[in-house]
Amino acid sequence: MVKYVREQDEKGYEKFHRTAERIDKRDRVILKNEEERSVFEEVFDRRTLMTLYDLGNRGAFSYLNGVVSSGKEARVYWGVTDQKTDVAVKIYLTSSSDFKKRAQYVLGDPRFNRFSKDSRSVAELWARKEYTNLEQAYNAGLRVPKPGVFLGNVLIMEFIGEQGVPSPKLADVEVSKKDYLTVSMAIKKLYKKAHLVHADLSEYNIFKLHQEIILFDFGSAVSTEHPLTMQFLARDVQNISNFFKKRGIDTTPEEKLLSQITKERSKESEASIVES
Ligand SMILES: Nc1ncnc2c1ncn2[C@@H]1O[C@H](COP(=O)(O)OP(=O)(O)O)[C@@H](O)[C@H]1O
Ligand SMILES: [Mg+2]
Repeated sequence: MVKYVREQDEKGYEKFHRTAERIDKRDRVILKNEEERSVFEEVFDRRTLMTLYDLGNRGAFSYLNGVVSSGKEARVYWGVTDQKTDVAVKIYLTSSSDFKKRAQYVLGDPRFNRFSKDSRSVAELWARKEYTNLEQAYNAGLRVPKPGVFLGNVLIMEFIGEQGVPSPKLADVEVSKKDYLTVSMAIKKLYKKAHLVHADLSEYNIFKLHQEIILFDFGSAVSTEHPLTMQFLARDVQNISNFFKKRGIDTTPEEKLLSQITKERSKESEASIVES
């Protein structure tokens, strides 16, 4: 592909060109769609391409079938495995890893106290962090996308949706009091059983698929040992409350909900989220 060819001496040019061709072939194996291939090359560096190629070789997917979301921090692709199972392939951008913004979600979390600030390391840390969070939540019995594997800045997980179309989010559908209680219970279970606070919870990071509530986008989630835990938790609760209130659903006062989420087990034990 022409874009790989730059001014170089005879030998260098040859070498560069050959590498480019090889990458191009790998590229073709990974991405089915010509148009997306060129976008891909603009957005991702070679190392990301190599990482994807590695993941493909390890059977994490056989090809990427299209992009489902292109955010500022990450792009999410619809991947398909050899067994024709859909997977979500989330690739953290190495071009825009703003450490300053993200620092508060790692500094103070004992699981991630060693890190470097260069943008690739930050992107890789985020893939690892989201994977670890998902695993912790999944193992605690929460309904989240089942984590598959991560490598470098790429995370692979269960695809929530149908035929490459992600499930609607709470923001896109009708919601009920039952959904409010389910989300509240999920926040509590996340806190009590998985020892995590999502820290970026909103109607845009919760799927509602056939009445099922599924929390996702766990990159920011912190361990409950993090010094800002209560602040993040209060913000999550506030966001959720605001959303359901806006939809005309009567909610538990935030302070009360917060204490229901965090309170130690009492005699009644397991006292769950109760209606106000
Ligand atoms: N596991 C998944 N299955 C299906 N679609 C997903 C999955 N994870 C993310 N998506 C899609 O990608 C979008 C962005 O993903 P998200 O994890 O929220 O990243 P960010 O908000 O950081 O860009 C989601 O709104 C959703 O449409
Ligand atoms: Mg999101």
